[in-house]
Amino acid sequence: MLIRVGETDFPLPSAPQLLEVGFGDGRFTAQIARMHPEWQILGVEISAGSVARALKRFRREGIGNVRVYHGEALFALRNLVAPQSLRRVYVNFPDPWPKAKHEENRLLQRAFFRRLSTRLAPGGELLLTTDHAEYWQFAQAEGRASGVFEVETPPPPEHHLSTKYALKWKEQGRTFFHAVFRKIAEDPTPWPPLPRYPMPHALMSGTLPELNRFEKTVVRFEGGTAVLLEATRALTPEGGYFFHTHIEEEDLVQDVLLEARPSAHGLYVGLSRFGAPLSTAGVRAAVVWLVGWLEGQGLRVVQRSY
Ligand SMILES: C[S@@+](CC[C@H](N)C(=O)[O-])C[C@H]1O[C@@H](n2cnc3c(N)ncnc32)[C@H](O)[C@@H]1O
Repeated sequence: MLIRVGETDFPLPSAPQLLEVGFGDGRFTAQIARMHPEWQILGVEISAGSVARALKRFRREGIGNVRVYHGEALFALRNLVAPQSLRRVYVNFPDPWPKAKHEENRLLQRAFFRRLSTRLAPGGELLLTTDHAEYWQFAQAEGRASGVFEVETPPPPEHHLSTKYALKWKEQGRTFFHAVFRKIAEDPTPWPPLPRYPMPHALMSGTLPELNRFEKTVVRFEGGTAVLLEATRALTPEGGYFFHTHIEEEDLVQDVLLEARPSAHGLYVGLSRFGAPLSTAGVRAAVVWLVGWLEGQGLRVVQRSY
C-alpha cells in the first residue's frame, strides 16, 4: 500500500517495526515480508519508477505487510515512524557517492545515525550490505562517531545477496561487505514530526481579476521558501485559477496547487487537495501571500482560517 503523507496520521497509526531504505525493485522487501509475516514493514524509496515496480510486485505476490512511502528516508523516519518503534533497518547497496565532493550526499552519516537512534527500539539495529569498501569503512566510522551505536562486521547473510544490485555485482565477481550498527544510546535532541496546520484558506469578496500574466514570486518564511511559479485558468464554468507552487522546508519538498475559485460562500483562496499535499508552515506562508496579493487587486477578506 502506498502512503500519501497528506492523508495519514503522523506517525503511522500502526507502527512499522522494520524499515528498508532504498528498496529498488522491492524483491528483498518481498522476501523479508514473507519471512516475517507478523512484522509491519515500511519501505522508503525516492525513485518513482522503483516504487511503481515494487508495488506491482507486492500486489502480484500477495504481500500484505508492506507499506511504501515514495520520498526521502529522513522525512519518513522523522514523520512516519514512532519514537523507539523500529527493531531493524535494512540498507542494501546504498548509492556510494564515490567522489569526495559528493560525500555529503551519503545516507549513513553521523547526523543520520543520531536521528535514527530516536526511532529505534532499545537494542534495535541497522544492517548495511554494500559492494563499496570505502563507503563501508566510512559508515562504520560515522556510526561509531555518532556515539550512539556499536558496530560489528560479520559476513553478509546469504539472503541479503539476492537484491537486484547484489545479483548484478555477483555476476561481476565483486566482494560484499556487511555491517551491523546496534543502538547503545539515544540522541537526546528532540526530533518531533514536522508540525502540520489545518488547511489554510480565506473567503474573499469582489471580482477575481482576469490574469493576463503572473510574475513568479518567491515567498520566504522561517525554515524555507515557497515559489509561486505560474497561474493557470480552470476551464470549469465557474472559472478560477490554480497557482503552481514549489515549497522547500526542512526535510520536505512539495509541489502543490493553490487555488482561487468561486464558491457558494465567496471566493475560496487556499490549498487545493490535488495530490494529497501536506499542510505545513510553507503552505500557510504561500496562502497568506496569495490572499495579500489578491487584496492588492481589490478583493476583500470576508473570513480567514489562519
Ligand atoms: C543502488 S540502489 C540499490 C537498490 C536495492 N536496495 C538493491 O540492492 O537492489 C540505491 C537505491 O536507493 C534509493 N535511494 C537513494 N537515496 C535515498 C533516500 N535518501 N531515501 C530513499 N531512497 C533512496 C535509490 O533511488 C535507489 O533505488
